[in-house]
Amino acid sequence: MRRLEYRGYDSAGIAVLRDGELYVCKRAGKVADLAQTLGENDGLLQAFVGVGHTRWATHGEPNDINAHPHLDQKKLVAVVHNGIIENFMAIKTKLVRDGHQFLGGSDTEVLAHLIGVMFEQCGDLASAVRAALAEVKGTYGIVVLSPKTPDRIVVARKGSPLIIGVGDHENFVASDASAIVAHTRQVVYLDDGEIAEITSENIRTMTIDDVTVEKSVHQITIELSQIERGGYDHFMLKEINEQPDTILNAMRGRLLVEEGDVKLGGLQNTMGKLLSARRIVLTACGTSWHAALVGEYMLEQIARVPAEVEYASEFRYRDPIVNIDDVVLLISQSGETADTLSALREAKQKGATVLGIVNVVGSTIARESHGGVFVHAGPEIGVASTKAFTSQLTVLALITIMLARARGMNRERGVMLARELASLPEKVAQVLQNTEVIQKIAQEFKDTQHALYLGRGANFPVALEGALKLKEISYIHAEGYPAAEMKHGPIALIDKNMPVVFIVPRDGIYDKVMSNIQEVRARKGRIIAVANDDDTEIEDLAEFVIRVPRTYGFFGPIVNIIPLQLLAYYIAVARGTNVDQPRNLAKSVTVE
Ligand code: AGP
Repeated sequence: MRRLEYRGYDSAGIAVLRDGELYVCKRAGKVADLAQTLGENDGLLQAFVGVGHTRWATHGEPNDINAHPHLDQKKLVAVVHNGIIENFMAIKTKLVRDGHQFLGGSDTEVLAHLIGVMFEQCGDLASAVRAALAEVKGTYGIVVLSPKTPDRIVVARKGSPLIIGVGDHENFVASDASAIVAHTRQVVYLDDGEIAEITSENIRTMTIDDVTVEKSVHQITIELSQIERGGYDHFMLKEINEQPDTILNAMRGRLLVEEGDVKLGGLQNTMGKLLSARRIVLTACGTSWHAALVGEYMLEQIARVPAEVEYASEFRYRDPIVNIDDVVLLISQSGETADTLSALREAKQKGATVLGIVNVVGSTIARESHGGVFVHAGPEIGVASTKAFTSQLTVLALITIMLARARGMNRERGVMLARELASLPEKVAQVLQNTEVIQKIAQEFKDTQHALYLGRGANFPVALEGALKLKEISYIHAEGYPAAEMKHGPIALIDKNMPVVFIVPRDGIYDKVMSNIQEVRARKGRIIAVANDDDTEIEDLAEFVIRVPRTYGFFGPIVNIIPLQLLAYYIAVARGTNVDQPRNLAKSVTVE
């Protein structure tokens, strides 16, 4: 479990089988806290069958009750789970009707009860897991054990990684090779839709339909330090590459494509306030503030809701005119940023409805909001925010579609927007597969002292975010600007030493940005363009072109930011800076 600490978590627990008995110890906090508790009961560690889990909360507060493992009603099974059970509320309602009682708010606890019910009915652990998972929608990597079958564990995978370590008269399972590489380098990779029944002597792998699957054994070769980063050199690069999955997770169970609508449980209680709001004020800091700027475009242009953006640090001190008719949307990856939290309290005190768009479940901003939406990006370890940003934008797009439909937008347009949103993970994956040009540009400009990033409309915040990424991790001075604003002064900066990054998709203001590119070109600026795959004109004007697929206008920033994240990353690597922990920065700024 200590090997898995780098993944970020908020609680930990273990379950072991000894002499036919099931022992569980779990609590909020770090592995060290659990170890301290265990220290008083070292009998737990004298066992041969068991499971440990570090939790990153997606449903339910990070506390002792919601920590894993979870038990069923009759303590027949213990379950640990990585992933999201989308239909857990429907299953829970049915189980409560059958007399089940739940201790916490975790989706995993519901899954444990469901498996316990199936196990009581069929008496076979693997069959019980198969039967329960047949009723489940969502993602999972689970380990299940029972005192009734003390020589085995059952594991299953769909959307959350699981590997099986093959030992000498012992076997292991883990969500990540770093947890087992000290014990064995022989591993079996379980694939989505597969289940395995594991004893110390045997590993039986099958599909969820009980069809045996032959799996080959692989040798782990990479070093432990690399494994902890999933094979990537830095957490930031890992998190940039996770974005197709994290953007999908932000939509999972929420985007109703065929209905052209969105369902957001966390906003149900405040929907009336949202619909009747005089305006929506979006407030945040840093990268999250850039997300708020994109959100303003989405809300105003698509949902026709008056929206404005404020720096949280400014909002909290200027005695803003905010009242009961306002909704204030606070955006924060950590949910602990002091300025944003103070802005929340200021707005709440003035009577506004405060809603949080947050990544960390159980964080202070999440708990003090009247409602909100978790972005489900998973732990973001790199100080420079990447996957959280695109997940924030995805959630803002979901809120926009939901509000637009509730305010009269027709189903047909809703379906178009929903399909566009649903296509984004694949489009992001496409950009991530073609990084050669970006790496070449990074080598060309790694020693530059300055850089300008220019965009218009919803791509102006992309310019700001691209510049912030470069500043944060490479320490190069970079500025983001509205492209049209150049001629009002900053164009004086342009000369043959100035790289200028343009975000120039083929949208309604393409010609205007192309004119701005001509202005920079006339002054010998070095032009780097983020342009669409089918743009044939840009090659004549830009020295370097980074291609991105076309996207619907206001959703474009979710794709257009990807090359700028990578550009900052490769320049920083070329400069040898500490990419994951840049100088002077903290992952969560909990001070003013
Ligand atoms: C982003 O790369 C920076 N780490 C920083 O600007 C960050 O976005 C800002 O501190 C806000 O953090 P939050 O989203 O956790 O509130």
